[in-house]
Amino acid sequence: MKKNGKSIQMALALLAVGTLLLNGCSAAKPAEKKSIRIGVTLYRGEDAFINNIRSSLEEKAKEYEQQTGIKVNLEIMDPKGNQNTQNSQVDRFLSLEYDAICVNMVDRSAASYVINKAMDAGTPVVFFNREPVEEDMKRWEHLYYVGEDARESAVLQGELLVDAYQENPGSLDLNGDGTVGYVMLEGERSHQDSLIRTEWSVQTMRDGDIPLEKLTGGSANWDRSQAAALMEQWIRQFGDAIEVVIGNNDEMALGAAEALERAGDTRGVKVVGIDGTPQGIEGLKSGKLYGTVQCDSDEYAEVIFEIAASEALGQNVQEKVELEEGTYYQCSQKALTVADLP
Ligand code: BGC
Repeated sequence: MKKNGKSIQMALALLAVGTLLLNGCSAAKPAEKKSIRIGVTLYRGEDAFINNIRSSLEEKAKEYEQQTGIKVNLEIMDPKGNQNTQNSQVDRFLSLEYDAICVNMVDRSAASYVINKAMDAGTPVVFFNREPVEEDMKRWEHLYYVGEDARESAVLQGELLVDAYQENPGSLDLNGDGTVGYVMLEGERSHQDSLIRTEWSVQTMRDGDIPLEKLTGGSANWDRSQAAALMEQWIRQFGDAIEVVIGNNDEMALGAAEALERAGDTRGVKVVGIDGTPQGIEGLKSGKLYGTVQCDSDEYAEVIFEIAASEALGQNVQEKVELEEGTYYQCSQKALTVADLP
């Protein structure tokens, strides 16, 4: 009995040494990893645009597994708009030694917490959609940002209305008084996209000689129901003077369109958004939206995933993805009206 017990102990000890040696070898050669672990934390999973990116990320992970034979453990967490919760999720990913993390900051000015922790742990970070300030991004070569050029989205949005006006001024100037009255629905004030989109869509319309008159504007925090509530108030206040509604995103544009519908407004007010989410495209089809600017969510998720997976495997990211300043990637965008849909 005793002898048997000893040889079992010996066998276990040998097994443990063998496992340690094997682990040691694979750690020394990260390129030969057969599985990777990537942690993702979203700012708010309910956000339509972010939810769309989430589904595309899950698809990309599956495709990657099929193409490479490398197992992907993708964990996606939703801190529901709470920065403290998001910090804890990052801490957890790091303590479990995830190979790379992807962070959609709740509060983009709080990125230094994530960066400090990730640098200490030596874990690369792909930020997306909510951009940390440049000073933060420059602190380490394993920090990346994937987003879209806010000015480009806005110029494309403005051009949709310029084209419509040039073709037929009466399609915007509904009451024929020589000016086009518009209201502006802005996203979160602290988001880099809101300010730039607001400024450049209006600038583009002015440059395109639309005789604009701003009636009012306000932030609805990217949210459909907040936008509908604001729009109801504006309809009461400005009535038929509203001829165009500019939304910093599709969700808010849809909220405004629904408020117009509920008010029984059939004058053909042009409502435009940005994102080209499935809901936005539905809105184009049903006539709620006149136009949107679609960002390629497939490309967006692919680039986030590709950077994270390359970093996880210790590969050279620059060889896989073309980055600006070694750090930034801006996704492609296109303007859409119902005429552009298949
Ligand atoms: C999108 C919005 C989204 C926001 C979330 C923006 O770039 O256009 O639809 O709500 O990002 O951060």
